[in-house]
Amino acid sequence: MWTIIKCVLLLSVAVAAHGYVLGPRDVVFHLFTRSNPQVSEPLLPSEGSIATSSFQRTRRTIFTIHNYGEGVGGNFNAFVIRAHLLAEDVNVIAIDWSPAASFYSYALANMPQLGRVIASFIDLLDSRFGYSPDNIRIAGLGLGAHAAGIAARNINGNIPHIVALDPSLVGWTHHPEILSKDDASVVEVIHTSAGAEGYDKPLGDLDFYPNGGTFMAGCGTNSTCSHIYSYVYYAESLTTELENGKKFVGTACDSYENAINLACQGERGVIFGGSAVKRTENPRVSQPLMPNNVNLLSRSNYKSIRRTIVLIHGWMNSATSNFNSVLLRALLAAEDVNVIVVDWSSGSNSLQYREVNANAISSGSAVAQFINWLNQNTGSVLAQYHIIGHGVGGHQAGIVGSLNLPVHGYITGLDPALIGWVNNIYRFRPSDALYSEVIHTNYGVFGYLADLAKVDFYPNGGISMPGCDSNGCDHERGFQYLAESIASGGFRGRECMNYYAAVLRMCNGPRQLQMGGLEPKTGASGVYFLETNAQPPFSQG
Ligand SMILES: *[C@@H]1O[C@H](CO)[C@@H](O)[C@H](O)[C@H]1NC(C)=O
Repeated sequence: MWTIIKCVLLLSVAVAAHGYVLGPRDVVFHLFTRSNPQVSEPLLPSEGSIATSSFQRTRRTIFTIHNYGEGVGGNFNAFVIRAHLLAEDVNVIAIDWSPAASFYSYALANMPQLGRVIASFIDLLDSRFGYSPDNIRIAGLGLGAHAAGIAARNINGNIPHIVALDPSLVGWTHHPEILSKDDASVVEVIHTSAGAEGYDKPLGDLDFYPNGGTFMAGCGTNSTCSHIYSYVYYAESLTTELENGKKFVGTACDSYENAINLACQGERGVIFGGSAVKRTENPRVSQPLMPNNVNLLSRSNYKSIRRTIVLIHGWMNSATSNFNSVLLRALLAAEDVNVIVVDWSSGSNSLQYREVNANAISSGSAVAQFINWLNQNTGSVLAQYHIIGHGVGGHQAGIVGSLNLPVHGYITGLDPALIGWVNNIYRFRPSDALYSEVIHTNYGVFGYLADLAKVDFYPNGGISMPGCDSNGCDHERGFQYLAESIASGGFRGRECMNYYAAVLRMCNGPRQLQMGGLEPKTGASGVYFLETNAQPPFSQG
């Protein structure tokens, strides 16, 4: 027995060393839709081929990747394509890599390349057709589950959901390109022949071990049979709602050992599979991160494939203030992002403005160092960040930006503070980010009284906001506007000659620009004015 295993391993090394090259005809993309559920339209990775197909940009897309020893017409696709098309009107693109899949070690050696071919196809959809990877799920079986991870990891952008069906074991334990939970926002894994054909240890955000993960009911000790159940269950999870069936409800386990020993007693509630986009994340309860604490970071849901938003509150505020709760809700609803709330309340809660300002500067430097540490440990880059600060936290956001070079992608200052900042070298500057924006809502009282950023908005003249009867209310309106702009856009501003014109509401410049929003308006500059409503929706369009 041992000699056989040794031979298999040697063989796989030999094939890997030879470096098989996938030819243009070795990977074919087969499109199935509700109008052609049985007969595929083969797509080439070219603009023309996709443009003339029945690929629909308004629908979600499911990519399926079969295992070795199979082709596009195998059992796996027969189950999964049918189930996906029944559950939802989607594009299903079944990837046929059968010429490279003939036997295990040969197929294994082809996975890094297969993943990259799929990644460039997804990039093509994005760059030529404006089809965001956000609409894509990748479901892979066996070796195809690892290829799903490699594909997702290599695209420009972020895949929200990978379904890994009994990912393969042999050759992967020390493989540098093994499926990982960082490959997509949610990596969901089902183990049905764990330790035999399938990978034993958890690999994703969610790892399901039905019946202990190794022997499925009805298969005895036949691992080929158990492996097949991974996609049988998955297909059933997609159609169960239509067929009035039961869902696959998981019970949380403390450990992998408890999962394989059927000894899990945690909460019941997480459901395997299904057609909905899954979010395992923590929108309400935070996970504290500390500088230089790698343990906390690795146990957190932080993912470097997402953009990261850093929120820095203002004077007398804390992590639970309105500034944080309003923006957190809007940001997480709009995009799958990491949101990091900076709690510097022990430095901001003082009536001595000098003390608060000094603390804002040291806190800004601590945040800048934290971001550098985070990037070193996760591979995130400054361009992925959006830093948003309010009041004295607005200047702090700028300080973070000025300390971290080359440069952050996007910084927003919401009515950065006035007192103590006029002659302060640390105050918000246009160069603090590649794109910096300030929204002035209480100009000259709580808020700074001149332009500070590449783009300065003076909604309603920048001093007094409709619907407000106090300076405090005016000062807080900025984050309400920003949250609404993130949720629903709007807030079209008109260019002003300068801030005097903005305050006097005399702006007739030729350029228009939206205030706020999720994406940085890199390259834009100037001063802008707009009017708002007194109540939500604040935007007048
Ligand atoms: C194991 O299961 C597979 C799939 O159900 C089947 O084709 C095969 O014959 C089974 N092998 C044995 C030894 O029973």
